[in-house]
Amino acid sequence: MGIGEPAHPDVAEVLISAERIQARVKELAAEIARDAAGQDLHLVVVLRGGVILAADLVRELPPPVSMDFIAISSYGSETRSSGVVRIVKDLEDTVEGRYVVVVEDIVDTGLTLNYLTNLLRDRGVAALEVCALLDKPTARRVPAEVRYVGFTVPEAFVVGYGLDYKQRYRGLPFVGTLRPEVQESPAPPGVPPRL
Ligand code: IMP
Repeated sequence: MGIGEPAHPDVAEVLISAERIQARVKELAAEIARDAAGQDLHLVVVLRGGVILAADLVRELPPPVSMDFIAISSYGSETRSSGVVRIVKDLEDTVEGRYVVVVEDIVDTGLTLNYLTNLLRDRGVAALEVCALLDKPTARRVPAEVRYVGFTVPEAFVVGYGLDYKQRYRGLPFVGTLRPEVQESPAPPGVPPRL
């Protein structure tokens, strides 16, 4: 992106640049690798938003590391979590006795993470840590322990690097806010509920 060029026509402000994210992901991977040394590291990636972070993290982590995916849906408006969650796609592999790191895009109210960590503990993980690109601590409704946080952000709705608005903008390499007129536009036909 050249100087003065808009990051994307729908973006109001870039909060975290692609360069900062890439540098921070390397640091997070180094911390995880150090803490998990000698363990059978297993990443539980939360679909869909955690995919971008997981893809970058896993390439920075020393092998062997395994990955599995879970999709949890929360019912609510496009920009607020309702707190009602259910599993849409379950894990394929067992987590029993394993050293698990959950990979999430953002911890907002903490409700999704709370549900997921309870589930993984019930399934008998040996160790459980959480890595999230973003943390919005002021939005918390239930406590959430996030050991590896990329960046702390204020209570604004953000998109990019895995985070969506109506399933769009996940591929932006930076994190930013949307212009208000974009957020108010009606959903295109056929767009499924948020995962
Ligand atoms: P929770 O409120 O902590 O349960 O957050 C659940 C999910 O809401 C996250 O994994 C995101 O997918 C989504 N979410 C929360 N805040 C944002 C945001 O600012 N932008 C896009 N998605 C968000």
